[in-house]
Amino acid sequence: MNTIVSLDLSEKEFSSIKQLVFDVTGICLGESKRELVKRRFAPRIRALGLGSYSDYVKYVQENGELEVSNFCNAITTNLTSFFRENHHFEFLASEVLPKIAVRNLTSRRLRVWSAGCSTGQEPYCLAIKLRESFPGLEKWDARILATDLDDNCLRTGRSGEYALEGFDRTPEKIVQKYFQALPLDVNDNFAKPMVKAKEEIRKLITFNKLNLMQQPWPMKGKFDVIMCRNVFIYFDKPTQAKLLARFAALQEPGSYLFLGHSEVVQDPHTIGYKLVEKTTYQRL
Ligand SMILES: C[S@@+](CC[C@H](N)C(=O)[O-])C[C@H]1O[C@@H](n2cnc3c(N)ncnc32)[C@H](O)[C@@H]1O
Repeated sequence: MNTIVSLDLSEKEFSSIKQLVFDVTGICLGESKRELVKRRFAPRIRALGLGSYSDYVKYVQENGELEVSNFCNAITTNLTSFFRENHHFEFLASEVLPKIAVRNLTSRRLRVWSAGCSTGQEPYCLAIKLRESFPGLEKWDARILATDLDDNCLRTGRSGEYALEGFDRTPEKIVQKYFQALPLDVNDNFAKPMVKAKEEIRKLITFNKLNLMQQPWPMKGKFDVIMCRNVFIYFDKPTQAKLLARFAALQEPGSYLFLGHSEVVQDPHTIGYKLVEKTTYQRL
């Protein structure tokens, strides 16, 4: 029988974990996150047969990229849902896409980036809105880049498979049009009905691993739309400011940036944006 040894987290260990999280992910953990740190890392420490949080910090530092990924996956918060903050998708359909359709008529190129896409609900909603609201989309070179730091999230996004119960805010006809039901596992009494995104939305999206802290980003082209929602809240002000400047460098005047509901930019003009809708900014 496995005995679960309770792991104590000393003040010094908490500080070194917070520092490592910050150095690797940019996520700034406050003093109140002590229990979260214990909850998130203890299973990994036990699985590795290590005896303490300081042993684990050393292990991450000595084992390079492989353990850094597990470390990041453990600390990120991946809460998301289909059509979360739906006013953004409404604004995208009614205002943003018609304007881009005119602006980019010559190039017929459309680039959207979902930065911090978690398990993919956000980029799939973007793809649905493009299909539903972008005139003549099939004649355009339209692509959505979906990035996150967490490999487990990206795996779900790439699979396009979701529990049907997660579509409570999605109109029934949209679910039927863009998702197909997967066969229910008859051997599993607790199996939930699952659906899979259809090819017509899947093919618009590319899921890639990207740590927003990494320098430089590999993308060279400009984005007409950047959606980076509910990611900034984990970063401190200087990190947020640096990221905003990097987003601005990837957007031409007239392009749009969507942030999460609590991620309000003070004085957006100073960083090259203007507020056009709730937490929605247009590049100047
Ligand atoms: C709360 S989710 C937001 C998901 C989605 N944008 C939404 O609003 O529903 C935050 C996501 O940001 C990602 N994240 C946190 N730090 C990151 C970093 N440094 N680079 C890339 N992604 C990061 C997490 O892995 C997580 O999936």
